[in-house]
Parts: sequence; C-alpha cells; structure tokens
Amino acid sequence: MEDIRDRVRNQGLWDKITTPEEAAEFIKPGMNVATSGFTSSGYPKAVPLALADRMRKNPFTINLWTGASGGPELDQALAEVHGIDLRLPFQTNRILRSEINRGIVDFVDMHLSEVAQLSRCGFLGKIDVAIIEACAITEDGNIIPTTSVGNSATFVQEADTVIVEINTSAPVELEGIHDVYLPLDPPNRLPIPIVHPNDRVGVPYIPCPIEKIKYIVADDRTDKTPDLVAPDENARRMSEHVFELLHREIRAGRMPKKLLPLQAGVGNVANAALAGFVNSDFSDLTVYTEVIQDGMFDLIDAGKLNFASGTALSPSPAGMERFRQNVERYKKHLLLRPQEISNSAEVIRRLGVIAMNTAIEVDIYGNVNSTHVCGTKIMNGIGGSSDFASNSYLTIFFTPSVAKDGRISCIVPMCTHVDNTEHDVDVVITEQGIADLRGKSPRDRARVLIENCSHPMFRDQLREYFERADRITHHAHMPHMLGDAFKMHERYIKTGTMMPPVKKK
Ligand code: COA
Repeated sequence: MEDIRDRVRNQGLWDKITTPEEAAEFIKPGMNVATSGFTSSGYPKAVPLALADRMRKNPFTINLWTGASGGPELDQALAEVHGIDLRLPFQTNRILRSEINRGIVDFVDMHLSEVAQLSRCGFLGKIDVAIIEACAITEDGNIIPTTSVGNSATFVQEADTVIVEINTSAPVELEGIHDVYLPLDPPNRLPIPIVHPNDRVGVPYIPCPIEKIKYIVADDRTDKTPDLVAPDENARRMSEHVFELLHREIRAGRMPKKLLPLQAGVGNVANAALAGFVNSDFSDLTVYTEVIQDGMFDLIDAGKLNFASGTALSPSPAGMERFRQNVERYKKHLLLRPQEISNSAEVIRRLGVIAMNTAIEVDIYGNVNSTHVCGTKIMNGIGGSSDFASNSYLTIFFTPSVAKDGRISCIVPMCTHVDNTEHDVDVVITEQGIADLRGKSPRDRARVLIENCSHPMFRDQLREYFERADRITHHAHMPHMLGDAFKMHERYIKTGTMMPPVKKK
C-alpha cells in the first residue's frame, strides 16, 4: 500500500497513524458512530471491518449514522455480526434491510437534507466518534474527502473524536472538487448564495480542529458501487415519455430550450432516463442532484452537460476507472457539496429543478409510496426523493405499471404507505404513458392515471374501483371504499400469482 505520509501533510499528525484494529478498539458498545459515505461512495472500510471482526468475537452493538447508504464493508459487515442497534438515515443493503424488517435493527428513515441540522441541534443525541474517509489531510488538519461529502462536515464538527481513513485508491486530484458550506442554524441562518449549479460558496475541505483527530488509518479498498445495469425496454419507454413531456413544456413556453437543472434519483429507471439524454436533442444541460453517476460522464463526453452538482460521485466500478483516467477533464464539470446543500429546499426552489424519482407504487390520486413494499417492508428509505419532489419546479415520478412479473399493479387504488404526497407530484410516467396531474382535481387525476399509466391487465379493475367508490361516496372529493382499497395487494400477498405473468419480450 502507498505510504500515506505524503497525504498527511501535517507531520505532527504522523504519530496518529495506526492500524484499523487499534482505531476500532476505541469504539465502545452503545456509541453513536457517524461516518462519511453516501450511496456506497466515500464510506470508511478498514475500521468498520476491524470493528465487525471485534464484534464477531465479543458481540456488542453501536448506532450507525451516515450520509446515505454505505457499501458492504460498512453496512453489510456490521449487519452480519448483528452489530447495529439503530441505523439512520438510508440504506440499500439486502442483509441490513432484512435485519431491519425482522426487527433486529431500528431504522430511522429520514429526509437526507435534514440529518445534519437534526444532528447539530441535538435531536439525535451526541456523536461519540466520526469515521471519515479522506484523500488527504492538509497542513492545518482539515480533511479532503474522497468521493462523497454527505454529512461528513457536520459529523466532524459535532463529534468528540475523529478517525480518518486515508484511502489511497482515491485520486489525490479529487482535491478541489468539493465545496463545503455549513449553514448557521435558526434563528441565525442566512440565504445560501447559490444561484447556478456551479456556484462555489464554501471551502474545498472539511474544517477539522487538529486535536480532534485521534487516529489515522491507511486503506486502499475501492468503493463497492454496483455495476451498471443496461436499461430495459420499460425504462427506455419511460425515458422517451420524459423527452415527450419536456418538449411539450418547451413548446408551451414553460421551460427554456436548455431545460432547467435536472435531478435523477436512485434506481434503474431514473438512471436510464438520465442516460437517455445522450441521444436526445437537448444540450447545454445542467444537473443539480445528489448522486453523480456514469450517465453524466457520457453527457460530458457528448458535450451536452455543462455542469453537475451533487453530494456523491457514485459511478459503477468501470465508470470510476474512466473518471480516474480523466480526472482533470471531468473535474471541471463536477462539484460535490454537503447533502444539506445538494438537497436544500431553498436552492432547489430557486434553481427550478426538474426532479425525476422512482416509486414502488402510485395510487390513483397521485400519492406515492417509494419506501415500503405492501406497506410493511422497507426497501431503501425515502432518501432525498421528497427533498426534491416537494421543492422542484417539475416533479416527475416513474414506476413500471406492474411489478413482480405482472403479479401486482404499481398503479393502485390506495398506496399502502405514502411518503411523497399527491400535493407534490406533478407528473407520473409508466411505460404505458404520461399522467400530467398538474391543476387537476383528485377525481380527474384518477381518470388520467388509470387511462394513461395503468397496465391494460389491471385497467378494468381500477376503473371499476374508482367508479364504484365515486358512486358510493356520492362523488366525494377523494372517493375511496376503505374495505376494498387494498384488495389488489391482499390478493398479491395471499397468492403471489394473482395474474398470469406479463409476457417478456
Ligand atoms: N410491489 C411489490 N414489490 C415491488 C413493487 C410493488 N409495487 N415495485 C417494485 N417492487 C420490488 C421489485 O420487484 C424489486 O424487488 P427485488 O429487490 O426483490 O427484485 C424491488 O422492489 C426494487 O424494485 P426495482 O424495480 O429494482 O427498483 P429500482 O431500482 O427502480 O428502485 C425504488 C425503485 C423505489 C426502490 C428506489 O428508487 C428507491 O429506493 N427510492 C426511494 C429513494 C429515492 O428516491 N432516492 C433518490 C432521491 S434523490
């Protein structure tokens, strides 16, 4: 492994360099441990693995806070040894998810923009130790993060003790890509002075009092981001519908030709939509989002993307290699901010973002469930979807019209859980078509959602439900038959084979 002393620029810190095992020894049962990391980018790896090893021998638990999801060396390693008591604010790991859905781990599913403020204001308790992955430490002890900023700046500010993992797989040229701005808390908060996605308003490092750094550990493991999944036919059709919608907006004079800053959430469909812009006739694009993925490199190479602001650089392993080979070139177009700023309601509203996120299911009135399968089992969490959905200029939700090989409709009478409400959802897109809900009453929304977005296999059932509910409630504002609302879900849960599978093309 590369000697990390080149990256620890204050020689007075060299005697803090130690093994992951010694650093992990510092973590005691019941501690609140807050780490860097956002969507499997820039999370610490060596110390959590050493900690998991310790827990395997002498079981105990900690509470784990991050920016968003962590990679397998963090979430999975600690979940496998039952080492997490409470986890916040987001996760995507199958093993951890199963621990949560079996009641072993308490999970607090939070708006990603709010974690830092809740932490600073003391609502979450005290941070005992922050573990931050870094590219380098400056002469003054400030921390240059790696591939994500997330909540790291607040965690460092709030923690009693900081452990830094210098990761030599992260190119030192990442220095300069970060823009760390921490707002003051109410009543002293000032406007965040971002008026364009590329505005720099902070400093290129995480400020850290040098005496807080207790240990420095070396590592060279790369981020374990998932491989790219080629967009399927449904995703391609949904991205065509997005372009149709955006062209319509331009023709109507509601959107400039170069569009407004784009945001694309997690999930295959949102990725496919963004990737689809490469072959579209849109150019001069900007992005104001959470996660920068492979599609953005394609857009930069195609000369279509001027600038992308996010909080995490989270391409596939192949995409990261591509970035590494061309850091200086891509760096000019990219910037990473704290998630409190990338997801700030104030900035999203000012810029007029076009938000594109994915739902598990959408009800006929436009309420969205993006977190809980059949109302009970958490999938990943709300993430930043609502930060963007409730503040964007145009809020789009995608969902395939059916899931589980056609056994369940994703357009349902009533969502089994609602996290993005009808008040925030402008447009729903499935592979079947577009439902533009803006300015429509709930009953009109139901008609357009059923006719344009539901799968033909389920359309008659949905029509029948809506017409009966409308009649029985005497045309109530939002007609529902509570006894019947979840029949589609119940049949799916009971049999799992409610309908013949959709023929795969
Ligand atoms: N009923 C039952 N299961 C359903 C379902 C439904 N209506 N819709 C989807 N599923 C299942 C899928 O079958 C799949 O199951 P599997 O893991 O067993 O294969 C799983 O849910 C995920 O579906 P998939 O189609 O692979 O989802 P995706 O990759 O497009 O992600 C979300 C969709 C909603 C899970 C994802 O976008 C998410 O976590 N969103 C919330 C957070 C967010 O939006 N963050 C971004 C903000 S910037």
